[in-house]
Amino acid sequence: MENKKIDWSSLTFGYVPTNYNVRMYYRNGKWGELEVSSETSINIPMAATCLHYGQEAFEGMKAFRGKDGKIRIFRPEENAARLQSSSRGIMMPELPTDLFINAVKRVIELNEEFVPPYGTGASLYIRPLLLGLSQQVGVKPAAEYLFMIFVTPVGPYFKEGFKPTPMAIMRGYDRAAPLGTGTIKVGGNYAASLKAGVLAHEKGYSAVIFLDAKHKEYIDECGPANFFGIKNNTYITPKSTSILPSITNKSLMQIAEDMGMKVERREIHVDELSTFEEAGACGTAAVISPIERIDDLDEHKSYIISKDGKAGPTCEKLYNKLRAIQYGEEPDTHNWVMILD
Ligand code: PLP
Ligand code: COI
Repeated sequence: MENKKIDWSSLTFGYVPTNYNVRMYYRNGKWGELEVSSETSINIPMAATCLHYGQEAFEGMKAFRGKDGKIRIFRPEENAARLQSSSRGIMMPELPTDLFINAVKRVIELNEEFVPPYGTGASLYIRPLLLGLSQQVGVKPAAEYLFMIFVTPVGPYFKEGFKPTPMAIMRGYDRAAPLGTGTIKVGGNYAASLKAGVLAHEKGYSAVIFLDAKHKEYIDECGPANFFGIKNNTYITPKSTSILPSITNKSLMQIAEDMGMKVERREIHVDELSTFEEAGACGTAAVISPIERIDDLDEHKSYIISKDGKAGPTCEKLYNKLRAIQYGEEPDTHNWVMILD
């Protein structure tokens, strides 16, 4: 049954409250039962570690209503593994993959009416969270945790959708330290990116391209998305110790290879930007957002990537293939899609 009150095609990447969320507590060294809640708030002690010391991690994934009416979740076991990696990074207990996936399935089933209909371009965004709850003021890991998931129907992350947008290099800001928390999905990384992000938006850019914090020479990532460039039938994406391993990027590398392209994961020097035929930002929220040009605001340089304001042919092919797999229009040859029964 579909929710008749929502205008699916005009959804942005905003927050629409849904009916239920699911929660699971970690106490006395073990995970409890999955609980269903219709409360949109949570009760957190004021001395909780998540509030003071940022002991918090999250995930972002999507469910799609396919052409056949079935609901598909894209690579949820990858998100489970990444949350486990985030947990190891900030000393939280790891949630086993089967518990993670059961919780994801349950929260979608409970909110089925919010899974956007096929053909609207919208999807159901799934937001798992893991929070340190113990009351303490010492800087040490909590003993108790809350895992929860809420969902919300979303449209495109960048308001332009699949249209090239300008992005900015702002050398006065770093998102993550070379050996810091850049490779895990913790809230602090996003707090660190807010100031540069707001300044970039004010100047008309859709995102900040962060450079590696140590040398300020290599591309790290594009706000909440990974970077890729295309040239000579090659898909090139950064290798760095301070970027989030994107599941979308991992999938696009495979799709590029399937399409007969070469794939390179290596350092990308800023000077190389002028050589790309196409470039884009990729992620669950962003899907693929083609890049029009990159302005290096401190060096006063501009790298024009799309000369005609349109997405390039390779970005378009990659985008279409990924979406077709997610919506069940093309065979899922790599077993990426989990169908909800
Ligand atoms: N990089 C950052 C900083 C992100 O927040 C995200 C979004 O999750 C990504 C990259 C893309 O990752 P994924 O494709 O797994 O969503
Ligand atoms: C995602 O792509 O899922 C993200 O988490 C990006 C974001 C909105 C923080």
